[in-house]
Amino acid sequence: MKIERFTESHLKEAAKVLAQSIQRLRSINPAISAKFEQISMTHTHLQVLQQNGAIGMVAIDNGKILGFLLGETREDEYFGRSVWAKLSSHALAEGVDSVLYRQLYAAAGEQWMAQGYPNHYVEVPAADEAALWTWFGLGFGQQQVYGVLDLSAHSHCMFSNDTKVSIRRAKPGDEDILKSFAWNIAGYQTGAPVWAPTEKNEKTELEEGYAELASDEECVTWLAFEGEQAMGMQMYRPLTDADKEVMHSKNSIELAVGSTMPKARGKGVASVLTQHGLAYAREQGFEWCITDWRTTNLLSAAFWPKMGFVPVAHRLERRVDERGCMVR
Ligand SMILES: CC(C)(COP(=O)(O)OP(=O)(O)OC[C@H]1O[C@@H](n2cnc3c(N)ncnc32)[C@H](O)[C@@H]1OP(=O)(O)O)[C@@H](O)C(=O)NCCC(=O)NCCS
Repeated sequence: MKIERFTESHLKEAAKVLAQSIQRLRSINPAISAKFEQISMTHTHLQVLQQNGAIGMVAIDNGKILGFLLGETREDEYFGRSVWAKLSSHALAEGVDSVLYRQLYAAAGEQWMAQGYPNHYVEVPAADEAALWTWFGLGFGQQQVYGVLDLSAHSHCMFSNDTKVSIRRAKPGDEDILKSFAWNIAGYQTGAPVWAPTEKNEKTELEEGYAELASDEECVTWLAFEGEQAMGMQMYRPLTDADKEVMHSKNSIELAVGSTMPKARGKGVASVLTQHGLAYAREQGFEWCITDWRTTNLLSAAFWPKMGFVPVAHRLERRVDERGCMVR
């Protein structure tokens, strides 16, 4: 077996390996996008990644691809100089042991480090326990869960609304109410045990973004009130065909923001909002609702699975000591 740099010459066979791996994944989890079962789709997808400068490696035995790993580089205040290997950027051929990721990561990671990218992210199917343990052994830890809820199996009446909460859709004029929620998630996540850093101007930018939801016709934003006081909000965003993510199935909607005011938490506000939002999504013809959460956000990590979201993939993180980039 040899490991070599992923180039254009590998596209055709790598596309086949990826499409087949998505087929296997989809047989376990039908929420995965069927688009990625088509070789034409995976070929275009990998070609775009490659043309955009993704750096990766491929393992070959007797002229056949056993697996590949591609990483997209990115630089921003939050993730620093990072490389992302999404669910659709790596795959192993059928029957290949996940330990192959060790060699693929060693070789691809060497390139990432040499180019000064010490922060590494990889998305791994939740059902692939062997692959998860291989990545844990490589120094990665769980950061984010991507969950899916099957709306066809969702019951309208999981909870009774004994909370005296009234719900209505946000509308123009609700800008200040929406702004008051803007810091709830980021603010909570600065605390234990997330300790997430915040970016300069993040609060102001968040407030502007939340205010815009009042007149955003593409999203559906629900507000929950106790009397006159807004206590909770949720924003749902339909995913379009233009979305090229493996977890964005046809007819999916994303629960993109969920937030309850600190003083109202634990009283059932978000439970009632979620029931309402999901029932509305189902009535609108959506089949799947997706969301994601930090595993160290203890409120989220307990709440979303309780609402019926099932983990489909995990985002794992490894931040190599930056001095590791300097020694080469
Ligand atoms: C996650 C979050 C949205 C949940 O909202 P919430 O309104 O507190 O949720 P609920 O009250 O419906 O449910 C939370 C708990 O209250 C319980 N509960 C439900 N109905 C209840 C009721 N009528 N009375 C008392 N408790 C109730 C739930 O069973 C749940 O219990 P648990 O502690 O055992 O998990 C909220 O904690 C929050 O805003 N967190 C900070 C921001 C954030 O992280 N948002 C999510 C980003 S992904």
